[in-house]
Amino acid sequence: MHRVIKPLIFLLCLLPLVLLSINFYLDELGANPFEVLTRSTGEWTLRFLLLTLAMTPLRQLTGSAWPLRMRRMLGLFSFFYVCVHLSTYLVLDHFFDWDEIIKDIIKRPYITFGMLAFTLLIPLAITSTNKMMKRLGRRWKSLHKLVYLIAILGVLHFLLLVKADLREPIIYALILLVLLAARLKPTLLKKHSFNPN
Ligand code: HEM
Repeated sequence: MHRVIKPLIFLLCLLPLVLLSINFYLDELGANPFEVLTRSTGEWTLRFLLLTLAMTPLRQLTGSAWPLRMRRMLGLFSFFYVCVHLSTYLVLDHFFDWDEIIKDIIKRPYITFGMLAFTLLIPLAITSTNKMMKRLGRRWKSLHKLVYLIAILGVLHFLLLVKADLREPIIYALILLVLLAARLKPTLLKKHSFNPN
């Protein structure tokens, strides 16, 4: 069954970018299309990060193995979307003006946090293959725990960039808090999980 579901979920994960591209092409992204591109790809990066983190608790809640089979793909989609997000910033916001970009990274804390999160995601993406998993052994698990720090940095990035209405980043922060709590206290979920036996 998951042979059908996995490719379907893969296509579903690509859908936000496809829709954004179509709307960009059709000039349907409003008065500031570049801003919409940067913001939506940023939001999708964060959504995929949180979805990735939700897979282990979901496995504990449902007792099913399929969430773990989706985890790597969702994590890689988060990396994919952050690459697009960063590209929009480098190309559309600054057009490779490296002096400006470096100044921005140093001076604006939300860019510092975003850049840090992106940098930490690189080793996770590189080591996401089965081969690397085997090669790193127990160190692989420790390394991939960085995803929690990356999600915290991503939420901080969002909280710091918003000027007035904090509601949306606070919702993401609360979701992250629940996921962190589930990680720190997995027994909470185990006690309430469905056990078919
Ligand atoms: C894991 C890493 C990252 C995550 C999760 C992330 C997430 C986000 C989110 C959620 C937004 C706000 C979307 C909205 O306003 O609705 C955003 C905006 C933005 N991000 Fe990121 N981002 C990340 C990395 C980066 C990096 C590396 C850069 C550039 C160095 C960057 C630059 C920006 C910019 C310029 C904006 C728009 C700010 C504005 O419109 O005022 N982000 N990002």
